[in-house]
Amino acid sequence: MYAVVGANGYLGSYVIKAILGLTNQNVIATARDLSRVNPDNRVEWVACDVQDDASVDALLEKLKREERVKIVYLAAYHNPDNVEKNKELAWDINVTCLSKFLNKATFAEKIYYASTDSVYGESVNGYRFKESDPLTPVNFYGHNKGAAEALLIHRGRNVVRFPFLISPSIIYKPHFYDVIVENIRSGKPFEMFADSYRSSLSFENAGKLWINLMERENIPQIVNICGDRDLSKYDVGLMIADREGVSEDLIIPISVSQPKENFETRRAASTLMDNTLLKTILGLREIDIFSEPR
Ligand SMILES: NC(=O)c1ccc[n+]([C@@H]2O[C@H](COP(=O)([O-])OP(=O)(O)OC[C@H]3O[C@@H](n4cnc5c(N)ncnc54)[C@H](OP(=O)(O)O)[C@@H]3O)[C@@H](O)[C@H]2O)c1
Repeated sequence: MYAVVGANGYLGSYVIKAILGLTNQNVIATARDLSRVNPDNRVEWVACDVQDDASVDALLEKLKREERVKIVYLAAYHNPDNVEKNKELAWDINVTCLSKFLNKATFAEKIYYASTDSVYGESVNGYRFKESDPLTPVNFYGHNKGAAEALLIHRGRNVVRFPFLISPSIIYKPHFYDVIVENIRSGKPFEMFADSYRSSLSFENAGKLWINLMERENIPQIVNICGDRDLSKYDVGLMIADREGVSEDLIIPISVSQPKENFETRRAASTLMDNTLLKTILGLREIDIFSEPR
């Protein structure tokens, strides 16, 4: 059985969808606010705030009664600007609470943690980072994730690193994808960076690839889960317009030297990842952002 901690977010909802679609296993899923979850007869929702020891202990007692528990850990305080402004809170949720959780969840068969390309820092000359490369994050969010990864690795657990992920939201809150579509449908131009690149992937493919990995044995401790192509947000915007049958003309290319999203904290202009290891493990030739990996 699967347990998904921090399940009622963008990635969590697609991870649950992948577990239900790819396996016949049931899910214990956690959220802080149970009034906003999507019910399903194979998913049992449990309240859990990782900052509240009593709720974590109750969750772990429940999981101990299950057999062969595989934990997907997603709970995080992760907006880079907020992380920079609230360093103590961010470190507590992202590192301290995770450390306590890992120290108590020793019974779990597997624990996988969602990390990010932000641990790598800046790609120079289109370099695609490999799992074994040194980590040089450019902001405190990246350092939080690097510290979190170290906890998993030194406790013998697993880390997957994701790029910029984008899909329509299937939960209560709209995603950036939905904001783009809403804007261009209502005739408003939407500016997107054309000179900043990521190995972007849909949440749908991220969830499927991750669960396919978790269903196998003897997986290396760190695996990049990302697409093949180096994509700017502008490239992704054009693809979304095409997918949604709306005009591409309202997607406007801008440069990262013309800041538009009011990013306060430094981000790497480009961070690209290499997905050779993932493709080798899963026997895949192509991982595109939106189409089915094959
Ligand atoms: N989206 C991306 O492009 C991307 C890329 C790389 C890595 N990631 C990683 O993927 C994970 C999920 O991100 P996401 O995009 O799905 O964002 P999200 O929608 O904000 O999900 C984060 C989840 O963490 C939960 N959470 C926050 N504080 C918590 C706490 N104190 N106790 C328990 N749960 C808590 C939230 O629960 P509530 O619902 O209760 O608020 C939420 O469900 C994060 O670790 C993120 O760093 C995401």
